[in-house]
Amino acid sequence: FTETERESCRYTSSAPVIIVVVMVLNIFKASMLLVFYLCSITVTFANSFTGVETNDTNIIRSGLFLEILKEEAVSRLQELGKVSDADNYLERTFLSPASGRARAIISSWMEDAGLRTWVDQLGNVHGRVEGINAASEALIIGSHLDTVIDAGMFDGSLGIVCAVSAVKVLKIEGKLENIRRPIEVIAFSDEEGVRFQTAFLGSAALAGTLPVSALLISDKSGATVQHALKENSFEGTEESLLQVKYKEGSVWGYIEVHIEQGPVLESLGLPLGVVNGIAGQTRLKVTVRGSQGHAGTVPMAMRKDPMAAAAELIVLLESFCKHPEDFLSYDGQCNGFSVESLSKSLVCTVGEISIWPGASNVIPGQVTFSVDIRAMDDMAREAIIYELSKRMYEACERRSVHCVIERKHNAEAVLCDNELSSRLKSASYSALKRVAGEVPDDVPVLMSGAGHDAMPMSHLSKVGMLFVRCRGGISHSPMEHVTDDDVWVAGLAILEFLETNLLEVEM
Ligand code: GLV
Ligand code: MN
Ligand code: MN
Repeated sequence: FTETERESCRYTSSAPVIIVVVMVLNIFKASMLLVFYLCSITVTFANSFTGVETNDTNIIRSGLFLEILKEEAVSRLQELGKVSDADNYLERTFLSPASGRARAIISSWMEDAGLRTWVDQLGNVHGRVEGINAASEALIIGSHLDTVIDAGMFDGSLGIVCAVSAVKVLKIEGKLENIRRPIEVIAFSDEEGVRFQTAFLGSAALAGTLPVSALLISDKSGATVQHALKENSFEGTEESLLQVKYKEGSVWGYIEVHIEQGPVLESLGLPLGVVNGIAGQTRLKVTVRGSQGHAGTVPMAMRKDPMAAAAELIVLLESFCKHPEDFLSYDGQCNGFSVESLSKSLVCTVGEISIWPGASNVIPGQVTFSVDIRAMDDMAREAIIYELSKRMYEACERRSVHCVIERKHNAEAVLCDNELSSRLKSASYSALKRVAGEVPDDVPVLMSGAGHDAMPMSHLSKVGMLFVRCRGGISHSPMEHVTDDDVWVAGLAILEFLETNLLEVEM
């Protein structure tokens, strides 16, 4: 090649490169346009299903409110799940510092949903909207803001968050001012009864079933309910407790969404179920006093060991509750209840035990343990408590230890209202249909072994509850889990209930 040829070669060899580059650029531009176009189509299609849009008007149109009922609700549950008195696990007991922080967060969510808020003298957080008839009986939707120790993040919080989210959708839709009766969302201060061993302090005060003597109940440190209230800037007087009570006839109904805390819905493959009743419950405190001594010197035959006695009592309790027929059976019938039906719902637990002084080389002087007994039949539960106490005292006498059995808490079984339940059922059915398209023939009906604020609230008005499926039926554990979609469908069911019952037809 001459120099010129080489130049020409260079020239001719670079020409195709430029052409290819231009072609590639054009293809890239065209593909980008195509990708952009396809994305817009996909987003529009997805949004028409999910309800995600960039402005409120479109959120309203879609009817599924994914941003509020799912995404925001789940992030709020996670936020509340971190509000704890402990560093490494969730613990938020009645009137603890963390419960104060939870009250503030929940109030701000309620305000964001268009509700007027206040905190009453028992630490319950209220958010209310009057609608077109402020004098009408209110619909209360609630659950609790306290937790057990090492809790999951859904027990209680799920019901509060779903209720607030559903009301927020009504606000965005511009419907909140048109509701036929007031809606009040309440986050109750105590359902678990962990701190004072008596549950429902907040909801029982509201329902008027909490005696003023409750102010004097003390926790393990000796602090009374009254002291705890005053320490949190509440009045803590008898008058202030009585003021929390709602007037009879001021509440039309109470509804509550709650994690199922059992395995039934998961086993049926369904996210929602309607509750037909809540088992009655009793908490006992058993104190066993013996003779404190040296582990190495007191011969076995000469001991009055409260630990060994407590062990016998606990095993006795287990036998009672596993086989009540062995202890109560009189031809299968006892005072009007059948032992067979009792054994289906009867459950008993010792969840707390303390030993004094608690050292490996000391025969204890005292052992105290809790007993939690639940059954659907109140008479049967009473019969169990009577017979159990009798046999426990006999065992203590035989072992020459001194026993005291005290009743710390009692709640009768509650039946949910048929009419409210069927309204909740159709709301659930519609919500499931809206989200999933196809739905089961029927929404299942379940009984609740767990206690709920609906129990004291049943003294004030009719009550209804919805259960939400949880993973493995696990609750009262950090393993507790509800899927994001199930949070969504629960919120949608409450929204459906409000839209159908408070906007479209007379209640
Ligand atoms: C509350 O979760 C209870 O049932 O004890
Ligand atoms: Mn609960
Ligand atoms: Mn609980």
